[in-house]
Amino acid sequence: MKKYGLLTGAVCLPLLFACSENNSVSEKTQADAAAHKEVANESVDNADSRGLTQSDIASGVDYHSFSNPNEIRVTHLNLDLTANFDTKQLVGYAELQVERASPQFNDLVLDTRALDISEVTAQGKPVPFTLGEKDKDLGTALSITLPEGVNTVKVAYATSAEASGVQWLTPAQTAGKEHPFLFTQAQAVHARSFIPLQDSPQVRVTYNATIKTPESLLAVMSASNDPDTPRDGEYEFTMPQPIPSYLIALAIGDLKFKAMGERTGVYAEPALLESAAKEFEDTEAMLEVTEKTYGPYQWDRYDLLILPPSFPFGGMENPRLSFITPTVIAGDKSLVSLIAHELAHSWSGNTVTNATWRDLWLNEGFTTYLTYRIMEMIYGNDRFKKEAVLGYQDLQNDIAALEANDEILAIDLRGRNPDDVFSNIPYEKGALFLREIEHKIGRENFDAFLMQYFQDFAFKSITTDTFIAYLEDTLLAQYPDKLDAKRINTWIFEPGIPQDAPKPESDAFVKIDKTRAAWLEGSVKAVDIDTTNWTVHEWLYFLNNMPTTLSTQQLEKLDTAFALTSTQNNEIAHSWLMIAVANKYEPAYDRLYDYLVSIGRNKLVKPLYRELSKTPDGKAFAKRAFEEAKPGYHPLTVKANEGYVQ
Ligand code: BES
Ligand code: ZN
Repeated sequence: MKKYGLLTGAVCLPLLFACSENNSVSEKTQADAAAHKEVANESVDNADSRGLTQSDIASGVDYHSFSNPNEIRVTHLNLDLTANFDTKQLVGYAELQVERASPQFNDLVLDTRALDISEVTAQGKPVPFTLGEKDKDLGTALSITLPEGVNTVKVAYATSAEASGVQWLTPAQTAGKEHPFLFTQAQAVHARSFIPLQDSPQVRVTYNATIKTPESLLAVMSASNDPDTPRDGEYEFTMPQPIPSYLIALAIGDLKFKAMGERTGVYAEPALLESAAKEFEDTEAMLEVTEKTYGPYQWDRYDLLILPPSFPFGGMENPRLSFITPTVIAGDKSLVSLIAHELAHSWSGNTVTNATWRDLWLNEGFTTYLTYRIMEMIYGNDRFKKEAVLGYQDLQNDIAALEANDEILAIDLRGRNPDDVFSNIPYEKGALFLREIEHKIGRENFDAFLMQYFQDFAFKSITTDTFIAYLEDTLLAQYPDKLDAKRINTWIFEPGIPQDAPKPESDAFVKIDKTRAAWLEGSVKAVDIDTTNWTVHEWLYFLNNMPTTLSTQQLEKLDTAFALTSTQNNEIAHSWLMIAVANKYEPAYDRLYDYLVSIGRNKLVKPLYRELSKTPDGKAFAKRAFEEAKPGYHPLTVKANEGYVQ
């Protein structure tokens, strides 16, 4: 293991959900797709504007951070913040403990974005600091000259009301309508907008925090949370395991707790608490099967926090406390793979972490692979197959739409804002790659490998290249007749999906294809389709694979037979509304408006804005909805969609 030791350096990449067109899957074969796309500068090691070459990047330089952890590294953080809901500011200080690579290094560089820094002190005395020039994607470097030998520095600051990683909600934007709410979302490069720190996933810190809030509210963090803590407006947290900055998270609101199992529970506003606890009651079982298959859960408790609907993601794997959109509380557990996903990150992501955002697939691809496995263990092989087919179709749609360079697992993000690149590539292509290895060497052997991998790299941040070196020393050496290095390189460094990659299939969906075809050709009426046993998956597959164009009459028949416009399932509604927009089916537009205004999850709203923006009428409609929704959207959702309504 020495060989694959903890990476030092700095980087990143982040992505926002953008991508998948929900229309029917491209007919193109993978091979065609790959053949028609050229990867720019394939063999040229050309440097970017900061002089970074491909080989710097392969070795883990984080070009999304200004910090200098190779010289001085922050190891512990002590936060003391007061949440001021009137000014929308977090005010207080961050005390940082550092370690020098060598005693001569005294200049500590931190990342910040729009922080108002009032003072920097060490041992109670002011120390000099300078703020660099503002970069629109990366924020501002904060350079502090530490007195020799001094290893603790305190930065007093206040956040901006527009901090990119914090959303302040008014009571009207919550379920209870009585109390305000706050939550943070740090991944990928937003921790710096609420804490001055080395905002790179290869810098791991332990932390303590004291958070002061209005007395009626409860604060929770990605740390130890005590459900029985008195609500007195002052809360203490500790995170004893070293975590990357993007996993530091805070939420404050009128939150109640309900246990779901011995180690699992849910925090939510009172109105959602019971339904969330019921929906996610299998969380404890998921935790148990994952431990059995991949090794011990390293984080003590695993709780969920249900956020207001403006949460811009489906979920966020903040350690010990995953943040979850309320849009997955469907009433029938049909969307709980999201919980399996965020839980799985406790192994892939939180225990073993991507060293830079170029390596995001190490987090998301492994997690997506694990998610399918967890879903299979809890809900059986049929559900696994259906979810795998749906994931594969999302991937195919992205591949049809993306530039070749963005189809590469180890993506080159130099000069790009991580938030602007988000696709199914790191997720579904990453998972498919791992599934291929599983098929080649056998499930048991691959499970044993993964368990060992999580152990060998526990609490480390690694690059793609470290992973490849590890594969060479383990599986490639063990199974030389089953795996080869060239194929692995193709998966990681080439666009598209390699030929003969696994292709998920589901018998249940074969039936749906027949039903859809029969309805389209007119041999079966919509009202005569027997949908009694259809789950969300059948509905999504049925709808997502409709031809691009349908007549108003056809849409009316479907809507009359199945009340699709008023479906309470947010994923089905999304697929239906995509069809409605593409075909200008006006009876669905009130629902569409309501959907856009009440949901802030970018993956659900962005494709709708994009589709609407394609016609002048659609754009005008999108503009109206966006203007009304904007005050309630998270800054990330605003940024991701404002281009469609201009
Ligand atoms: N960690 C991600 C969310 C994320 C990724 C935020 C990159 C910022 C940058 C989280 O685990 C995730 O993947 N969420 C998905 C879940 C889905 C794939 C089940 C989401 O939010 O939709
Ligand atoms: Zn994830």
